[in-house]
Amino acid sequence: MPPVGGSRPPASEPAHSRRPGGHAYTSSVNGRFITLEGPEGAGKTLQAERLVGALHARGHRARLTREPGGTDLGEQIRSIVLARAEGSGGIDARADALLFNAARAQLVSEVIKPALAAGEIVVCARFADSTLAYQGYGAGLPIDELRAVAAVATGGLAPGLTILLDVSPEVGLARKADDTRNRFEASFDLDFHRRVRDGFLELARGEPGRWRVIEAERDPDAVSRDVLEAVLAIL
Ligand code: TYD
Repeated sequence: MPPVGGSRPPASEPAHSRRPGGHAYTSSVNGRFITLEGPEGAGKTLQAERLVGALHARGHRARLTREPGGTDLGEQIRSIVLARAEGSGGIDARADALLFNAARAQLVSEVIKPALAAGEIVVCARFADSTLAYQGYGAGLPIDELRAVAAVATGGLAPGLTILLDVSPEVGLARKADDTRNRFEASFDLDFHRRVRDGFLELARGEPGRWRVIEAERDPDAVSRDVLEAVLAIL
């Protein structure tokens, strides 16, 4: 599946960068670390489950996890950030960014890094790109600041493959019943979700070596086939 804007080379990422204050982050791209991203209702959970099942069936050791969540702390943060904000002032976008990254830091250290070190494939539904898309493109926070926060949370760990399950907000949001909608689905308007989708597509265009864009408004079986094909191509 060709990436969007496939003629552009991947953005160059320094293997080792030094930040103000003298702290060094080692940027390590791990080919066995695979993330699934996308707007609301793209089917990430279903596709991530099917992908891990298909990898197991082929004899691979693969682990499924998700953001926000995947650890006790992460699941507690998940319940805070996804709770619908009725009757309260809501959560500031910067607070959101830090909460998602706190959950991310715990997931990376407790689950993802140990699993990769043990030779497992890790499939994660949402990761740092979601913060760029939602809190950056959606809520308007500066992308470079969000990248710096994510570097702290991840210690520079980056996925080797990121699959964007692309769906329009009209179709994606219609897939969720009103009473099952989380805070982002219930409280943010259609324009926000359009910016999120366009943000994901822009991120994919900027780093075509890492991203594969899969059209996810189709039959889920067709999407699953494309997801598996993209993953098998890099293993
Ligand atoms: P998701 O698990 O896809 O929600 P659901 O299980 O209800 O389909 O994602 C959780 C929500 O959190 C989703 O609306 C996107 C949002 N989100 C952010 O805004 N920033 C982030 O960094 C992450 C990981 C998620």
